[in-house]
Amino acid sequence: MWDYSDKMMDHFRNPRNVGEIDDPDGTATVGSLACGDALRFQFKLGPDRRIADAKFKTFGCASAIASSSALTEMVIGKTLDEAKKITNKEIADYLGGLPPQKMHCSVMGREAMEAAIKNYETGENTDRNLEDATLCTCYSVSENEVRRVIAENGLTTVEEVTNFTKAGGGCGRCIPKIQRILDEIRGTAK
Ligand code: FES
Repeated sequence: MWDYSDKMMDHFRNPRNVGEIDDPDGTATVGSLACGDALRFQFKLGPDRRIADAKFKTFGCASAIASSSALTEMVIGKTLDEAKKITNKEIADYLGGLPPQKMHCSVMGREAMEAAIKNYETGENTDRNLEDATLCTCYSVSENEVRRVIAENGLTTVEEVTNFTKAGGGCGRCIPKIQRILDEIRGTAK
């Protein structure tokens, strides 16, 4: 059994803002049903250009549900620029922390929100799926995402990158690429 905080369990058992918005301003789905984690995030802006409503649907574990629920509470009332600044660590902190192996759930929430804002700003379909993956095809993780979580969370090992993104946790084919990125960032690449 994972060591979950009371707040995390509360958001899992009583998730806030589950569902769909009829006419959302921004919408995006990230993750992949094939690997068991997928999240759709939608928002609606109010007349003051702040997020008036945010809803999610997720097909994932307890941490994914709690992270999505927390994220909706965190973004309502914020401008889009303020929402964009929310980090995956802040989502985890809001829940009283997440087990290291579950940090990828907070990363997925943050990515879904960013994709939904991009959908609003560009009008493009920003759904991310397996076809978009450039680094880890098992879990649909791009090289940019890996670089970003390493930088934002000070990660130093492949295992940590897997905990935060799931990349490397399937067939393992992308592990040498993750190691190369870590070596490059730490300046130890040969
Ligand atoms: S490609 Fe990354 S675990 Fe399979």
